[in-house]
Amino acid sequence: MQKKWWQNAVVYQIYPKSFKDSNKDGIGDLTGIIEGLDYIRSLGVNVIWLCPVNRSPMRDNGYDISDYYTIDPLFGTNADLERLIKEAKTRGIKVLMDLVVNHVSSEHKWFLDMLSDENSPCRDYFIIRETQDGNPPNNFRSYFGDSVWTRIGDSNRFYFHSFAKEQPDLNWENPRLRQEIYDMMSYWCGKGIAGFRVDAIGNIKKSAKILSSCHMPPDAGDGMADSHDWLLNQPGINVFLSEMRDRVFHKYDSMTVAEVSVPDDQLAEYVGENGYFSMVFDFSYTDIDVNGVTTPCDLVPWNLEELKGHIYHSQEVTQNIGWAAPYLENHDQPRSVNKYLPDGAINDYNTKMLGALFFFLRGTPYIYQGQELGMQNYPFTRIEQFADEGALKRYEVAAACGELEEKIMDYLRRRSRDNGRTPMQWSDDEYAGFSSESPWLSVNPDYTWRNVRSQNQDDLSILQFYRRMVWLRLHSAYRNVLTYGMFKGLRVGGPEDFIYRRYDETHEVLVILNYSETERPYSINLSGYEILLNNYAAIPDISCPKAARGSIGEEHTLLPWQVLVVGKEIRQKSC
Ligand code: GLC
Ligand code: CA
Repeated sequence: MQKKWWQNAVVYQIYPKSFKDSNKDGIGDLTGIIEGLDYIRSLGVNVIWLCPVNRSPMRDNGYDISDYYTIDPLFGTNADLERLIKEAKTRGIKVLMDLVVNHVSSEHKWFLDMLSDENSPCRDYFIIRETQDGNPPNNFRSYFGDSVWTRIGDSNRFYFHSFAKEQPDLNWENPRLRQEIYDMMSYWCGKGIAGFRVDAIGNIKKSAKILSSCHMPPDAGDGMADSHDWLLNQPGINVFLSEMRDRVFHKYDSMTVAEVSVPDDQLAEYVGENGYFSMVFDFSYTDIDVNGVTTPCDLVPWNLEELKGHIYHSQEVTQNIGWAAPYLENHDQPRSVNKYLPDGAINDYNTKMLGALFFFLRGTPYIYQGQELGMQNYPFTRIEQFADEGALKRYEVAAACGELEEKIMDYLRRRSRDNGRTPMQWSDDEYAGFSSESPWLSVNPDYTWRNVRSQNQDDLSILQFYRRMVWLRLHSAYRNVLTYGMFKGLRVGGPEDFIYRRYDETHEVLVILNYSETERPYSINLSGYEILLNNYAAIPDISCPKAARGSIGEEHTLLPWQVLVVGKEIRQKSC
């Protein structure tokens, strides 16, 4: 595969509403992000991804855009974004924007025009169906729980939405609409952004079935049927995606990461040599606890063997085709330590172990804000504490299906997206140094001891561990093998023994970890390797690779939750 600039990227994802508030309204903003740039640079990352900052009524925290060309006043001005791009650039950091083009806000001018003017050219920008009997065309369920159809006024006409009713889907069949989108993308590329995280893009092509008057057999007590099979990656989507690639991404050499789950046999079209995107997010391991569930508050049990299977499989398949995007968290996920580690047993060791497990996989790693501090889920006790429409809707739907309050709350405590959206914990000052006013979403009470300031002063902190990981990937003698090297998941030992190898012609790295709370023996001949990272050792000076070195004997025991990353240069055989 031809080398691309974004293969050397380490991305830090920012949820603008929760990162840093500069003007004391309790809501994070662009100036706050600029203030935080030196911190971001201190992590060593070279790309930031901003969740949407465009004008929006914020029903879905910016994923409901009402004007693509302006920055929402909550976050600042267009000039602030340009300043951010410039300030980031002086620190060697590129900026990705979130591209939300499956749908707009129901307050977008196009939608309002469509509503008010029968003859508006925007009518065909949306997906509208009329029925004779005044009932919705069918009983497909949207991702947020309601019907995919909402009635227009008191007519017999309905518009389609994959998500909330305030997020009407755009009609990608319309070439004029598509051109408007490409123009908008080009506008932002022209302002100096380096690419896009592409939101919900697998939904832009609708199947004939989901738009038909076909009533499906219900799969739950709400009388509705799941949409995924008729809404995601439908035949014909390739036309739109390749057009977008050719008209915009190629022209600007953009980095693109798409939110779309792609079956193995289609992966080459998405991320192969001339794929639509640079990389796509794989949901198989981040949604391991919810994959395939259609009921509103059930989780599926999973085990380490499955987790390992998903990660290894994803790596092995992707490396033969293109590039991956390893991540543990994002703004739609709860905190990873709560998902992947046993209740009551989370500590700094296993938090670091989890970090190392994903960070050295092949692909461009994504760190979600606060993950580098080991931030955890919020201890929610009441439904009133949630802000996410998705959580509130789920509560309603689950209650209507007769689920018990306790079960719903337990689900939301584990799975609500608000868990990952609580304000960034900068210090032990009031409101965690995020703002001097009460924030839009409560700060996790552990901020008094889990924060940037305290972890900056502690050589053993999770934060220093993350810095070291980034440094290893981008600057150490192992940077090439850790970036381009092949991946091999070793299937040795028990389910709790995760060992994988990254290798090229000159170097080899082994990531060896004990995913359990008891000591584990392992037998790998480690002579000749140097320790690059050990979650039981302090990292006094990340600029000095020797600081964490040590010699290793033949017999090895991994301590509970221990991870060792070891590397060696492979001597070229002389003839
Ligand atoms: C994506 C976003 C999510 C949003 C949804 C609708 O899944 O990540 O936050 O709610 O799209 O735009
Ligand atoms: Ca603010």
